[in-house]
Amino acid sequence: MTKSLEKIVSLAKRRGFVFPGSEIYGGLQGFYDYGPLGVEMKNNLKALWWKWMTKEHEDIVGIDGAIITNPKVWEASGHLKSFVDPLVECKKCHHRFKADDISDDKCPDCGGELTEPRVFNILVPTKLGVIEDEKTEAYLRGEACQTIYLNYKNVLDSSRLKVPFGICQIGKAFRNEVTPGNFLFRQREFEQWDLQWFCHPSEMEKWFEYWKEERMNWYKSIFTHPENLGFYEHEKLAHYAKKAFDINYEASPIGKEMEGIHWRGDWDLSRHAEYSGQDLSYTNQETKENFIPNIVETSGGVDRTFLFLLLDAYEEDGDRIFLKLDPRLAPFKAAIFPLLANKPQLVEKAKAIYESLKTDKAVAWDDRGNIGKRYFSQDEIGTPFCVTVDFDTLDNDTVTVRDRDTATQQRVAISELADFIRKAVNR
Ligand code: GAP
Repeated sequence: MTKSLEKIVSLAKRRGFVFPGSEIYGGLQGFYDYGPLGVEMKNNLKALWWKWMTKEHEDIVGIDGAIITNPKVWEASGHLKSFVDPLVECKKCHHRFKADDISDDKCPDCGGELTEPRVFNILVPTKLGVIEDEKTEAYLRGEACQTIYLNYKNVLDSSRLKVPFGICQIGKAFRNEVTPGNFLFRQREFEQWDLQWFCHPSEMEKWFEYWKEERMNWYKSIFTHPENLGFYEHEKLAHYAKKAFDINYEASPIGKEMEGIHWRGDWDLSRHAEYSGQDLSYTNQETKENFIPNIVETSGGVDRTFLFLLLDAYEEDGDRIFLKLDPRLAPFKAAIFPLLANKPQLVEKAKAIYESLKTDKAVAWDDRGNIGKRYFSQDEIGTPFCVTVDFDTLDNDTVTVRDRDTATQQRVAISELADFIRKAVNR
């Protein structure tokens, strides 16, 4: 089922997941801010990715590179010449489109005639230095991965890694997109999670296939409906790629691409060796063979994944809205309620449970309105469990635990509650 983007945008703002950037000044196209619940969910998501990359693969290490690099990096990488978007404009309604998104030569909005494509470089320039006519031009990074190539030798020299190995990174990238839009899907500032896998040229095919499958399996492990994910093979390739597949969220009502798996070969290290004058080759200490490692890249969008996860988790059951999120991603793992806010014994008991769980379980407290409204409120933000302290609790030290997805209830002993939540949310 394809779900509506409008409902997600509205829920995201209403409940504090994502706000439009600079809203009180009328906004700024292509920029968004994550709110209190959004930042928790995004941090949970990034922590899962980081753990999977660096703790579950002993031959992958992480870095956190700078956003601004020496501008020569973008010459060497080919971005100054080739990081371009062709733009067309409707002569009648003046709406602008990426030429690549247009299937015929008429305006998709009003059917008007389109201009010839004009080409724009989408790197975001900035100026460094304080004296006006001595300022130097630099660029905010257009893709996060370049700092990995710049540090590949530093990582090798400071660790005991040998080819094949990987360097991963989560970080911001900036693009002067000609048509930002569709909420988090196409922004001008966004976050990428990248793995660059360095291997022997003869092993590229093997590793390309390996990472393609591994990354798909990882995405399948966090989506509510893994059947909504699929591969798309690119025919038109980026300037650096010899082969490229996307991992798509097929049920998206907008664009589908979530992550690119790219065969970058020796493009990056050869170009940086040429432009920097440094030797970026690798010598196998056993065979003494010297070669430029080839690279398989997996480069995904954190914000796009976040958006697709919300779309995938969104469910309606009558007027009940619930986010069927993987519990590991949910901002809160449980919410604790006293059945009645005006009964001090219930409130005291519920507060004690809340205090005992709040540090390591990310639990919410709610004593407003009636229980039904509290359930609705927690369902809408994806809290997997609601825990109610009622009059039976005072007799037998058990609580009612209600499940978000099935709305069924069970009694759990207070002494077993922490364990119950931990097992259910850690999967
Ligand atoms: N280093 C390779 C690279 O940057 P890409 O396909 O241009 O490849 C990788 O970007 C991922 O980054 C995309 O699959 C997408 O998820 C995300 N991404 C790219 N442009 C984006 C934008 N304008 N807004 C949000 N996410 C974007």
